Amino acid sequence: MASLHFLLRPSSNPNLLALPSRSRPVQCANERQALFSRIAPVYDNLNDFLSLGQHRIWKRMAVSWSGAKRGDDVLDLCCGSGDLAFLLSERVGSDGKVIGFDFSREQLSVASSRQHLLSKACYKNIEWIEGDATKLPFSDCSFDAITMGYGLRNVLDRGKAMQEMFRVLKPGSRVSILDFNKSTKPFITSIQEWMIDNVVVPVATGYGLADEYAYLKSSVQEFLTGKELEKLALEMGFSNAKHYEIGGGIMGNLVAKR
Ligand SMILES: C[S@@+](CC[C@H](N)C(=O)[O-])C[C@H]1O[C@@H](n2cnc3c(N)ncnc32)[C@H](O)[C@@H]1O
Repeated sequence: MASLHFLLRPSSNPNLLALPSRSRPVQCANERQALFSRIAPVYDNLNDFLSLGQHRIWKRMAVSWSGAKRGDDVLDLCCGSGDLAFLLSERVGSDGKVIGFDFSREQLSVASSRQHLLSKACYKNIEWIEGDATKLPFSDCSFDAITMGYGLRNVLDRGKAMQEMFRVLKPGSRVSILDFNKSTKPFITSIQEWMIDNVVVPVATGYGLADEYAYLKSSVQEFLTGKELEKLALEMGFSNAKHYEIGGGIMGNLVAKR
């Protein structure tokens, strides 16, 4: 089943975001921040419910592909409520350091509460930072690995985000980017769209979040295919890039090495 990591349909004007029909177009960054903040309280429950827990397996795979290891300094971009950051934290241990980075203060606040509630000793190595993935406040070559879960599809300037990931990664290190797969196989696309229309949107509607989830389908349609993601990474300077289809082709994970 689909994991509910939605979302927005970029308009043809890159500075504007197409919103649900009853809303007017507004500056996209602000609107996207607001949207993620609105869904923050129920986001984790919905993910578990809609993916039947499978998003946890895909996230473990993404972290494993990042190559993060004990003692590393790592970055989880678009961290949301922190699932990937927590997995990275367990991997790098107390000698390592994890930064969870997101532009939604509410999502970071959920992440921080979970960090305190779960109270695992190693989670003390996580710091939450608010900011924009296209303007990272870190020096060149700062990180041993980067993960990004269901974030790139929602960033309008994907090239800039990839450039920034390249810049802050140490040479030889990897970025691992998990998201919905924009499949080139019509059968997979039909299954994906059926699940969004018949499972994801109706369930989100039950949480009062119909508008927030209504654009998942078009956001996947307007995302990049695996081959296009590989091409983008190579254009931004990565030395190699490989996209893996997972979850029966419903999800995908790009692994690119600086
Ligand atoms: C679908 S959620 C994914 C959260 C988490 N990575 C996960 O897999 O559960 C996408 C997250 O990306 C964040 N986001 C989207 N665009 C961003 C940007 N330009 N800069 C920083 N965060 C962004 C949102 O606030 C949201 O928390």
